[in-house]
Amino acid sequence: MNHFHFIKGRLYAEEVAVTTIAETFGTPVYIYSHATLTRHIKAYERAFTGFPHVICFAVKANSNAAILKLFSSLGAGADVVSGGELFRALKAGIKADRIVYAGVGKTSEEIALAIKHRILMFNVESMEELQEIDRVAAGMKTKAPIALRINPDIDPQTHPYISTGLKKHKFGIPIEKAIECYRIASAMKNIKVVGIHKHIGSQLTKISPFVDSLKRILALLRELRSLGIDIKYLDIGGGVGITYNDERPPHPSELGKNILPLLKNSGITLVIEPGRSIVGNAGILVTKALYLKQGSDKKFLIVDAAMNDLIRPSIYGAYHRIEPVVKTKRGKILSDIVGPICESGDFLAKDREITQVKQGELLAIMSAGAYGFSMASNYNSRPKPAEVMVKGKDFALIRKRETYLDLIRGESIPDFL
Ligand code: LLP
Repeated sequence: MNHFHFIKGRLYAEEVAVTTIAETFGTPVYIYSHATLTRHIKAYERAFTGFPHVICFAVKANSNAAILKLFSSLGAGADVVSGGELFRALKAGIKADRIVYAGVGKTSEEIALAIKHRILMFNVESMEELQEIDRVAAGMKTKAPIALRINPDIDPQTHPYISTGLKKHKFGIPIEKAIECYRIASAMKNIKVVGIHKHIGSQLTKISPFVDSLKRILALLRELRSLGIDIKYLDIGGGVGITYNDERPPHPSELGKNILPLLKNSGITLVIEPGRSIVGNAGILVTKALYLKQGSDKKFLIVDAAMNDLIRPSIYGAYHRIEPVVKTKRGKILSDIVGPICESGDFLAKDREITQVKQGELLAIMSAGAYGFSMASNYNSRPKPAEVMVKGKDFALIRKRETYLDLIRGESIPDFL
């Protein structure tokens, strides 16, 4: 459920016509709905009420300061994977004791920063990393709280590039080595074992991989406790999918219903790291039609947004619904919807049936709130698009469109030139 809807054939973000925003800030522009963002955080909160839990929003899905500020005001925590994300989360007012830190390549500087701020826990991805955390913590004369990220070897049944929970993936510690690794971790002087973490993949549309992987982790938790290793936090990662086309992913309440009974009397605090399911359908990317080009075999609708603004179709073959912002009664055409970038991989849709649009008219690329702007680049020296948040009748710029000067910020010409 989201708050983008048509009224008399015109697309609205909450109570604001999308055309108004495009006229005010130009295109391409990302538009986010405050009501949808809030609703999604609350849906997770409701799904787990009555059980101790922390919702740690996966910052990589969308790291805009205003969005993080909203989540912080709703009491959310954060799942971060870099010093930059940690900086953003803290700056948005997210409490350090609600921040978890994953990622296979944490540097010693990043580790020190997280220890300094006293985050909830590191989700450790290898024994090599654990040793580094121990070393850095020793230098700071403290103990670092950790969970080991366990790779449960469960197929999440999603796109291969966004699945993470199989043995062949670079993530986590293989489940069969877990006990041995926990023994080593609990003997380390500057490490405090506090949790277990798993995250098996993204855009999951079935509940069974969540349940199956959790059962494996719970068996491990029981074994650890029998060895006297205390586990306070069970972090089940993120991964709940959204509807891009006709997928029917589980609602957070369904996730709650299926997993809470398994956790009864476990005494743990649950950590959940949703990203996409919070922001995905809370954002759209609005673009303007530039040309309708008749190629020798097919039609190309060339628009002013490109793979640098939204890379998901190019790298995952991802489907995003595309709607004209103002509906017309014109006939349909079949075309590739492409951007101006000099790559054949620069497309937003392939062989898409769409109502004919004329030059200058607007299109909305739906479900673009997650891994949209956060994966945007300046490729082809294209300034990154503007971002706008709508709340009821109000709307505000939350990131201004980049300028050409922004493109060369930080570059310098050496004296020998
Ligand atoms: N926790 C960890 C440790 C993760 O690696 C991720 C996502 C999440 C939580 C959040 O997962 P979500 O709830 O958003 O599914 N760029 C890809 C998605 C990559 C996901 C990476 N990890 C895409 O555009 O589909």
